[in-house]
Amino acid sequence: MTRRLLRGRILSFNREPVHADDTGSFTYIEDGGVLMSGGLIEAIGSYAEIARAAGEAEITDHRPHLLMPGFIDAHIHFPQTQVIASWGAQLMEWLNTYTFPEERRFADETHAQAMAAQFLDLLTAHGTTTAAAFCSVHKTSADALFSEAEARGMRMIAGKVLMDRNAPDGLLDTPQSGYDDTKALIKQWHGKGRALYAITPRFAITSTPEQLEAAGVLAAEHPDCYVQTHLSENREEIDLTRKLYAGARDYLDVYETQDLLGPRSLLGHAIHLDAREIDVLAETGSHPVFCPTSNLFLGSGLFDDGGLRARGIASGIATDVGAGTSYSMLQTLNEGYKILQLRNQSLDPLRAFHWITRGNAAVLGLEDRIGTLEAGTEADIVVLNARATPAMALRMERAESLREELFILQIMGDDRSIAETYVNGQPVKTRT
Ligand code: GUN
Ligand code: ZN
Repeated sequence: MTRRLLRGRILSFNREPVHADDTGSFTYIEDGGVLMSGGLIEAIGSYAEIARAAGEAEITDHRPHLLMPGFIDAHIHFPQTQVIASWGAQLMEWLNTYTFPEERRFADETHAQAMAAQFLDLLTAHGTTTAAAFCSVHKTSADALFSEAEARGMRMIAGKVLMDRNAPDGLLDTPQSGYDDTKALIKQWHGKGRALYAITPRFAITSTPEQLEAAGVLAAEHPDCYVQTHLSENREEIDLTRKLYAGARDYLDVYETQDLLGPRSLLGHAIHLDAREIDVLAETGSHPVFCPTSNLFLGSGLFDDGGLRARGIASGIATDVGAGTSYSMLQTLNEGYKILQLRNQSLDPLRAFHWITRGNAAVLGLEDRIGTLEAGTEADIVVLNARATPAMALRMERAESLREELFILQIMGDDRSIAETYVNGQPVKTRT
């Protein structure tokens, strides 16, 4: 088995930073070594110490760059690679005009396979090594994404969307066919290699109560699968949901009634929430997912990160491509910083980089496997260059601390700052 030894500056979080200078929350090694074998991190520490133990390992010297755990995107749409940057609409019009017509193309297996390869190339080029992805309604789209991820040894959470109303022909399942296809996909993929399944009712508007009930049955039958959906993204969406579910106390109640909430539930957006909904999120341990570039692009609203955190609710952070406008978790942090500025809240760089690594891993219940650089965890690593562009290099001349370097990456970074990405111990960026 080839062992690979990386040299560079190493940064990994041990817990969530509780203030902007919380140096106890992370491990930083100025001249560090990471030894990888069989897709795992075998050892990590000072380069001198690790090199002594490494024997014949193949060495890559990444100095002066920063080695961090691969980024995790907690909400993204695989069939929207050719929807990103579609002009001029807010959520419901955007879905009907651009997104639904595009997703119909994923009935074609060849198209789905070609897009799966492109999608994963894009993720890793931007430093993302794990994502929670929505596929199209077609079973083939989920098969295509899981197969491509498996071929690359990539940890992937995904599910075919369940949608049985309020969408065009060619994009609808039924409560029974959605249940059967999901069941078959769970059997085929969940826990196979690095694949994990997410039961994926798209949102309240595109599912009948019967379909949400079937999703609840699936969640009860497979408690170790995730549930992912959308919640309270846009005012028009909320009004329509209230009309469609006249008996519901509020939007979240639609999911609560069908037992779709809990620590494995990921709720994209969650912007416009009532007090009761926040109580229920806290009581059930469900996870809102903040999607900054998408929320700005669609004009959806400003996520109340501070309010949810004050209630002990752990949110994820994500791109939500193709309403999101970048695959980059760095650009996601940049826009997230600005949204929180508008709310008079802050997103300091330590918390930001914790969030897109160990924080999202913890939201997914995977912090013992991904999101940190520790011996025995999976070898997904990103190599960051804070001088990737002339403007960044110039700014870096004035940077006096790690914290400042991280903030420059948070605000100015994108795929150009990703010097290399390792998935399952293998370099995947410069190879292409
Ligand atoms: N709500 C339901 N479907 C979608 C989607 O594809 N993108 C976003 N941003 N919101 C949704
Ligand atoms: Zn979404």
